[in-house]
Amino acid sequence: MIFNFKHVIMIQFTYTNKVAIITGSAIGIGFEIAKQLVKSGASIVINDVDGKALENAINELENMGANCTSVKGNSGDFDVIQSIVEKAVSEFGRLDFVIANSGITTFGDFINYKLEEFQTLTSVNLQGSFFLAQEASKQFIKQKSSGRIIFMSSVTGHQAHPKLAAYGMTKAALEMLAKSLSIELAEHKITVNTIAPGATLTERTQSDENYKATWEELTPTGKVSTTIDIANAALFLLSDTSSQITGQTVVVDGGWASVSPPPKIDDIK
Ligand SMILES: NC(=O)c1ccc[n+]([C@@H]2O[C@H](COP(=O)([O-])OP(=O)(O)OC[C@H]3O[C@@H](n4cnc5c(N)ncnc54)[C@H](O)[C@@H]3O)[C@@H](O)[C@H]2O)c1
Repeated sequence: MIFNFKHVIMIQFTYTNKVAIITGSAIGIGFEIAKQLVKSGASIVINDVDGKALENAINELENMGANCTSVKGNSGDFDVIQSIVEKAVSEFGRLDFVIANSGITTFGDFINYKLEEFQTLTSVNLQGSFFLAQEASKQFIKQKSSGRIIFMSSVTGHQAHPKLAAYGMTKAALEMLAKSLSIELAEHKITVNTIAPGATLTERTQSDENYKATWEELTPTGKVSTTIDIANAALFLLSDTSSQITGQTVVVDGGWASVSPPPKIDDIK
């Protein structure tokens, strides 16, 4: 394990012979986790609904020398979830880690929130995460090996945030799901944890030019998180070092949830 407290930033773990699935991983947090897993020696299956972004991601990972494959499709769909797990096993022979990272964020006030938006949101954030964990667990149990499941929550699953009632509800639910599964799957040596990122710089969030400055001002550390900050937490939770941690949520937010000042209402898209 390498720690460099002055500048860096990435903790290095060795995951040679481990096979991981990361959903919603062509860009952003999921792609960073994919890259860091490749650097650690893992074989990976990435997934995204955006075919072009997926192709770019696979090219970049292959240039890094990755053992990787991909499944295009909506990670909320049960048949896509089954294909992702099947692909991990058919290509790499086993499955060790699952990061249910896909999540969509739709802003909207409660009174006007539409049924279709709610159904799309919950099918990806909840249904997709729930059934990916279920399909992966079946494979872990079949292999008689320990497994690691990580759900991707958000600080808005802890603290109320304007215009994010539905999204925040899905994220809080994922944290409860991790707790429930931790007791149900412990006998199989499967751990289930959740990461709750705060404001994190990704392609999506940086499309708002005020995002970084707005959130730096609101965050106690004066920084927004990078995707590496989130990947660090993920790689730790996947490791043997964390085998006694299950049912927990790791909040990676520079202290924002401890105070939770929201942005001004006009700043929220
Ligand atoms: N970025 C942040 O500041 C932040 C903060 C808190 C929580 N999160 C959570 O972290 C996770 C990743 O966030 P991000 O900002 O990196 O994501 P993002 O919005 O940038 O999307 C990443 C990728 O996921 C893909 N995707 C979206 N829906 C999908 C689906 N149904 N099936 C397959 N792929 C799909 C997109 O095409 C995209 O390539 C999400 O669950 C999000 O809710 C992000």
